[in-house]
Amino acid sequence: MLVQTLLVAALSASATASQCTLHSSHLVKGSPTLPIGLLKTLLEREDEDARELDGAYTGQQLPFLSPSTALPVAHTFDQLVSHDDAVPPPQPGATFKQRYWLDAQYYKPGGPVFLLGGGETSGANRIPFLTQGILRILAEATGGIGIIHEHRYYGKSFPVQNLTTDSYRYLTTLQSLQDEVYFAKNIILPGLEHLNLTAPHTPWIRIGGSYAGAQSAFARKLFPEVWWGAIASSAVTKAIVDYWEYYEPIRLNGPPECISRLINHTALIDSLLALHSPLVTSTLKSFFGLPNVTLDEDFVNALSLPLGSYQGQNWDPKVGSHGFQAFCAAIEQDDAPSSTFVSSSALEAGIEGVAHLLPHWPKDPRNKFGQLKSYAAFIRDTIASACPAGASQDECFGTDEYGGYGLEEAPWKSWSYQFCTEWGYFIASPPSPSHPSLISRLLKTDYVGQVCRKAFPAGELNRVPKEPNVTMINQYGGFRLREERLAYIDGSADPWLYATPHSPNAPHHGKRRDTLKRPFKLIPGGVHHWDENGFPPSQTEPPEIAHIHAEEVEFVKAWLREWKERGRWRWKGKGEWKEVGRWD
Ligand SMILES: *[C@@H]1O[C@H](CO)[C@@H](O)[C@H](O)[C@H]1NC(C)=O
Ligand SMILES: *[C@@H]1O[C@H](CO)[C@@H](O)[C@H](O)[C@H]1NC(C)=O
Ligand SMILES: *[C@@H]1O[C@H](CO)[C@@H](O)[C@H](O)[C@H]1NC(C)=O
Ligand SMILES: *[C@@H]1O[C@H](CO)[C@@H](O)[C@H](O)[C@H]1NC(C)=O
Ligand SMILES: *[C@@H]1O[C@H](CO)[C@@H](O)[C@H](O)[C@H]1NC(C)=O
Repeated sequence: MLVQTLLVAALSASATASQCTLHSSHLVKGSPTLPIGLLKTLLEREDEDARELDGAYTGQQLPFLSPSTALPVAHTFDQLVSHDDAVPPPQPGATFKQRYWLDAQYYKPGGPVFLLGGGETSGANRIPFLTQGILRILAEATGGIGIIHEHRYYGKSFPVQNLTTDSYRYLTTLQSLQDEVYFAKNIILPGLEHLNLTAPHTPWIRIGGSYAGAQSAFARKLFPEVWWGAIASSAVTKAIVDYWEYYEPIRLNGPPECISRLINHTALIDSLLALHSPLVTSTLKSFFGLPNVTLDEDFVNALSLPLGSYQGQNWDPKVGSHGFQAFCAAIEQDDAPSSTFVSSSALEAGIEGVAHLLPHWPKDPRNKFGQLKSYAAFIRDTIASACPAGASQDECFGTDEYGGYGLEEAPWKSWSYQFCTEWGYFIASPPSPSHPSLISRLLKTDYVGQVCRKAFPAGELNRVPKEPNVTMINQYGGFRLREERLAYIDGSADPWLYATPHSPNAPHHGKRRDTLKRPFKLIPGGVHHWDENGFPPSQTEPPEIAHIHAEEVEFVKAWLREWKERGRWRWKGKGEWKEVGRWD
């Protein structure tokens, strides 16, 4: 709540303050390239309730709840600290309290259990998927139970007391998958104590989006005896160190005029910085409201932040980010709004002397300055202004603010640890200098990877590798991973598309079939795991969303028919049948 207040205050000079309130908080929070310094300064100013819902700051998703939403009650389960003998817990069999949320109102005897993995954020952020989204939809259609299961090291589910590098030794994708298996095999659900609903005696179906979507695919592959089926939404099954393709779906699907102008502005800014003229550089930074950002890389990284709001867009305008539209609206203006004071005279004067050195400098730069001015005004109003009073711009936009070992650091630190060790996804500019770029070419994987070196000094029991070991993830199949009763649901305009099995770079691109047994679906124009949220039954969803939800109900019902018939089912394909128990 405090963040919102701060942002409103900072934005009050802007002509569209009320709109900006919405998009700037989302703008800042949704960006996967958000500087950790800025994030930390913002988190420090939040109360605990707000922080609880803002766990997705540096993650790949936006929290869909406002802090005023009443939360259903969280239950806890005694989870094993470690499932890996090579990384033993402090005492044999040690446990910690792992949170989950439950909705059994639709349950009918014999019905399935749907477990949605919370992924790299507080599980509380996923509650809308339980109350009205995919868990509610599937539970209602099948007489099932919906559960949100919080990921270890997020929200309030910590197997350790602090977040030193050593304390992160129990955080791996596999340990998290094993948490869910142990849960599914042992849980006694509150209110349903008289029933034995454990796997594999009850059909359990694993659901998740993004990182948690990839976990759905891995869960089905690694633990088929527990997970009868799995739904993997925007599942990033392929770990990639240099994930420059993040910006490709934005470049290809964003409004063409906006994208073209941005590419040109970016190239111009790069060539101005390449002059290494202290005067030009400092006038340029001042023009964008970032005069005190020392390093050029930090400056251009701040300029890239609005792009992070693209993935936060949603088909439900109430929960999605409008930051990207606001950004493009500003970029597409030919001059800054008259209410915003952005003087370009210093910059014009600075550039005049060097214009002949610049490639692509238009013969008549007047229009160009007008366009650059509206871009600069937007950055001042939404990005520069997000740095709260009392913090320096280097503290907000720099890359040296990685201290802190308390659990309150988890919202940025836990996912950083995971991408530094196993996942990569360093979002950088295209490796080829001729490929059009939406972000400065100064932003290379080295820049993004700094957090791995600075935030995780080597401990006695654990260290972060020089480069993320993506083999830990890609050994499960990457783009090729496919299983019976594993569904992939992707979005054609998702920045994470190039890490999913729908990637244009996948070997089977365009050839994989979509069947009931192996659903493989692409939501046209869809962005990040758009099938996971839903409207309550009283409201009509947009056609493409209603359609994907109907398809999900259809294939899940088909899988549950297979469950009932499994006693007389024998697989004909190469997937071996596993006898999971008697049908009674
Ligand atoms: C972190 O926790 C471990 C285990 O409880 C403890 O030994 C260590 O001193 C703590 N480190 C810090 C920096 O708090
Ligand atoms: C549930 O039933 C299975 C099979 O009968 C049994 O092995 C398991 O211990 C039971 N679990 C609980 C919690 O009663
Ligand atoms: C961007 O630059 C290219 C090449 O100089 C030019 O063809 C194009 O029209 C420019 N785009 C806009 C929107 O000005
Ligand atoms: C930049 O630094 C100067 C000198 O310390 C300070 O007066 C000014 O307020 C700072 N500007 C911003 C936008 O942080
Ligand atoms: C990376 O992970 C794979 C799979 O676990 C392992 O076999 C390999 O030794 C690891 N590589 C390094 C450099 O640690």
